[in-house]
Amino acid sequence: MTYNLAVNLPLRGPVRPRLQRTLASMDVDDALLLYPDPAGEVAVREATAAWMDQHLGGTRSAASRIVLTGGARHALWLALEHVGIRDAPVLVEALTFPGLLELVRAQGGHAVAVAMDQDGLRPDALEDAVKQSGARVLYVQPTLHNPTTATMPLDRRRDVASVARRLGLTLIEGDVYGPYAWQDTTPLPALASLLPERTVLAAGMGKILGPGLRYGWLALPDDTAAAAVRERIRLTQDGLPALTSRLVGTWMADGTAARVLAEQASAMTTRHGLARKWLGDAVIAAEGLHAWLPATDAGALAEALARRGVQVTPPGAACVVPEPPPGIRLCLGAEEDLERLGDALRHVARARDELRAWPR
Ligand SMILES: Cc1ncc(COP(=O)(O)O)c(C=O)c1O
Repeated sequence: MTYNLAVNLPLRGPVRPRLQRTLASMDVDDALLLYPDPAGEVAVREATAAWMDQHLGGTRSAASRIVLTGGARHALWLALEHVGIRDAPVLVEALTFPGLLELVRAQGGHAVAVAMDQDGLRPDALEDAVKQSGARVLYVQPTLHNPTTATMPLDRRRDVASVARRLGLTLIEGDVYGPYAWQDTTPLPALASLLPERTVLAAGMGKILGPGLRYGWLALPDDTAAAAVRERIRLTQDGLPALTSRLVGTWMADGTAARVLAEQASAMTTRHGLARKWLGDAVIAAEGLHAWLPATDAGALAEALARRGVQVTPPGAACVVPEPPPGIRLCLGAEEDLERLGDALRHVARARDELRAWPR
């Protein structure tokens, strides 16, 4: 028996019947069959702008500054390409999204780690890292950070924005989990709304609706930047499949996406509760799709879990230098069945207790 705690997926249950109904009732007009606008249909970009305002911290982006992408990873690729990182340092949080590290390497840049604390990236460390590395670009996840779940409080956001403004940094803000943090509270401002002239926001709906739909976008600082990215999309793929982007845009506009988000969030509350039940208060169980389990020997814990058939992302994948970080990420949505998730978390608790009793 193997268990998947390695991939951050939303549940499929809340989406499947809605998808079937919407597909059956969709109007198949010419726009679905001809070449799309490389930036995406205007109505879909408008729905995306409204979604950002409501669920990603008041970014107030105009539809003309949004470019649709095939998922958030594609958005990050385009953002890095747009700012230009060849042979250049790119600052990242000390623990970060492993996919971003791959993208930086693939574009010939090199990632430089900036220290974090429980509130996310540290502004003082950011300032030091800029001075030491000469970096011009920072990739940062202010809300429900992957992997630690940290969410920057308002002061921290303001401090990061102010260091970035003073030192002339360009920010690539990644936000794929944020809507989970703001279910019961007004969103804190995105960095893109605190520093709009220097921030490229890369987001997506894969962590709410399912990554198979490959729906993401970039919100760029101005129309010229958006036109440049739109041109890259025209060159490489002539736009996103109109069918999926129309579908997601319709769901954003008619409230379906918000209802799916609410159902996913409520299911995740139960799942984080289960993580606390098995792992106690040590586990950092926030609102999103993953929890963070601090562990002094994350590498050994991951190995012990593998022996029990529990898959987690290799802990070192989140670090610039591949060394085990001070914890492991537990993805709570890949196992759709709650009982199986409970079994997997019980294995995590046992493996951790055994390591404590018999440290390596
Ligand atoms: C922080 C972060 N950004 C981006 C992505 C990629 O999202 P998508 O599936 O929309 O490409 C992920 C997926 O794990 C992620 O964790």
